[in-house]
Amino acid sequence: MVTKSKVIQLHDKSFEEFITAEQLQKRVDEIGEVLSRRFEGKCPVFISILKGSFIFTADLMRATNIPCEVAFTQLSSYDGLGSTGTVQTKLNLDVTLKNRHVIIAEDIIDTGNTMKHFLLELQKYNPASVHLVTLLLKPEALQHALDIEYVGFEIPNKFVVGYGLDYNEHGRNLKGIYQLKE
Ligand code: IMP
Ligand code: MG
Repeated sequence: MVTKSKVIQLHDKSFEEFITAEQLQKRVDEIGEVLSRRFEGKCPVFISILKGSFIFTADLMRATNIPCEVAFTQLSSYDGLGSTGTVQTKLNLDVTLKNRHVIIAEDIIDTGNTMKHFLLELQKYNPASVHLVTLLLKPEALQHALDIEYVGFEIPNKFVVGYGLDYNEHGRNLKGIYQLKE
């Protein structure tokens, strides 16, 4: 998506810029505007899936102009460059979601294991409605039928970092999204 290649090194791997900070901001602003119209008067609760979604959630919330709240949970299924298949809850939600409109802000949906697991978890809280927003989606990797309402960018099935996403905890502070260089 960018013409001039910006290459960076994290641990033992090289990554190449794939989505610029400007492209990310533009898309996040667009989704924020849509959410503002859709959830006007509903005071939605954004649920940010840590750690990867913290930057996306912060930008997405600020791209809306309606009263809203935020809550955090930490789920984990990735180890290095691959999904382990089992989803662990490392931080529990601390909000009452009963009768609330919930917007899940996820950084990336890969196999969909994490989201499938979390959507089932959420049902226990009896929310009024649940809406799924993901900044990135790897359609070729998806293994579950998920109702994803808003997708920032569909990307190829290659490992990416930046804008909150990590490779073994590094790279989260990159302003753009970078793709693993083979
Ligand atoms: P899934 O359960 O396979 O859909 O993976 C979801 C989680 O794995 C995301 O929330 C990320 O934390 C992590 N993940 C998946 N793909 C990538 C990637 O390309 N780079 C960094 N993290 C990823
Ligand atoms: Mg991660």
